[in-house]
Amino acid sequence: MKKSDFGEDFLWGVTIAAIQNEGASFTKGKGLTIWDTFSKRIGKIKNGDTPSHACDFYHRYKEDLLLAKQLGFKVFRFSIAWSRILPEGQGRINKSGINFYHQVIDECLTLGLTPYITLYHWDLPHDLEKEGGWCSHFLLKWFSRFVTVCAENYGSKVKNWIILNEPMGFTTLGYMLGIHAPGKMGLNNYFPAIHNAALAQAEGGRIIRELVSNANIGTTFSCSEVMPFSDKEQDIKAAARMDLMLNRLFIEPLLGKGLPHVEDFPMLEKMLVHNKTWKYTERLQFDFDYIGIQNYFALTVKHNPLIPYLQASEVKAKTRKVPYTDMGWEINAESCYRMIKRFWDYGNIRKLLVTEGGAFFKDKLINGTVDDAQRIQYFQEYLEAVLKAKREGVNVGGYFAWTLTDNFEWSEGYQATFGLIHVDFSTQQRTIKNSGYWWRQFLKS
Ligand code: NOJ
Repeated sequence: MKKSDFGEDFLWGVTIAAIQNEGASFTKGKGLTIWDTFSKRIGKIKNGDTPSHACDFYHRYKEDLLLAKQLGFKVFRFSIAWSRILPEGQGRINKSGINFYHQVIDECLTLGLTPYITLYHWDLPHDLEKEGGWCSHFLLKWFSRFVTVCAENYGSKVKNWIILNEPMGFTTLGYMLGIHAPGKMGLNNYFPAIHNAALAQAEGGRIIRELVSNANIGTTFSCSEVMPFSDKEQDIKAAARMDLMLNRLFIEPLLGKGLPHVEDFPMLEKMLVHNKTWKYTERLQFDFDYIGIQNYFALTVKHNPLIPYLQASEVKAKTRKVPYTDMGWEINAESCYRMIKRFWDYGNIRKLLVTEGGAFFKDKLINGTVDDAQRIQYFQEYLEAVLKAKREGVNVGGYFAWTLTDNFEWSEGYQATFGLIHVDFSTQQRTIKNSGYWWRQFLKS
């Protein structure tokens, strides 16, 4: 497999996110985010880590962008920290925050890296959370203002936009299970949060379309093929419920297919009653130029009556003798191929981009080298899967690696390293891993 097999126009990118990389959490007027407050709660983040320093992209963006270029990438995807430009989430604008992203964008353009801006990568301003966050009926108003400020400031330089990063991730983990910021739990939080996120992804698209000329607009979804543990009917139905929640809930209303449905899932009826406007699908729809998909693992699921509502639980990869990463996530490139095909089979998606892909393996820095052969193999297998889908006619137009440097991996803290570049978090020294060198070679091929 060579880069040239993917064709001339295929986009090769690398992705980071504000709260995971920037650090400088309290610098030059930046407001608090839900991750600053959540990470202070005992036991929420491994080793008590907080995102306050991260890998200091805020001060080292020039070095990091140069590294991205040296590895051969042409696209740089990053997110804007809402509270850096609007410290309270609404109201006054923080000029120095606006300037920071101008500097990042200008540096990208100077280096020949095409910027892709993610508007929301999970770092809601804390002040908005105090007023209900994603559960509030003001959310759409706050989000619209944030999107407008970004479009007005950066729209003349940046044409490629991503509205939300993985809405399923931040709503389920943050507003249902309580394991991500802001740590809320239960259906009373979850239902309004998913509804507001579904509205925001479409509304954000409309705002960018109106304010940015020639914009190329997308939004991203996590996806995982869900397989039943056995051919028992109960397991098959459990897998279908999980599949609906993980893969269908946000994309289908967006594509005009309304709220997805499976049999024997009473929670869905409750959802409809709660969010009456799920029925009025127009505002949930938007004709995106591309859809970003992010596939990290495949899931095997069995019926479990002890799990509220879903009545389904994962059968972990390590108990099934299949390969898995150090996150415990099943490695299954063939299943990634099937998910790409499945998204494409919806029929009304213009283009797919793999806006993230990557893996955590425990790295060892020995004599200036990180020999992360497993990560290289992972990328090779997953890229083969993308190529296979492309050869079969799927319009998949790019692959963005997750991630440039080791960074703050949410509730896993700093020990879960996904980077192509190793970071010593005490000195902030960067060392290109063998996977980074592999990319550099591959991108020349
Ligand atoms: C997807 C998320 O967008 C990203 O922030 C995260 O670090 C990776 N998954 C790995 O878990």
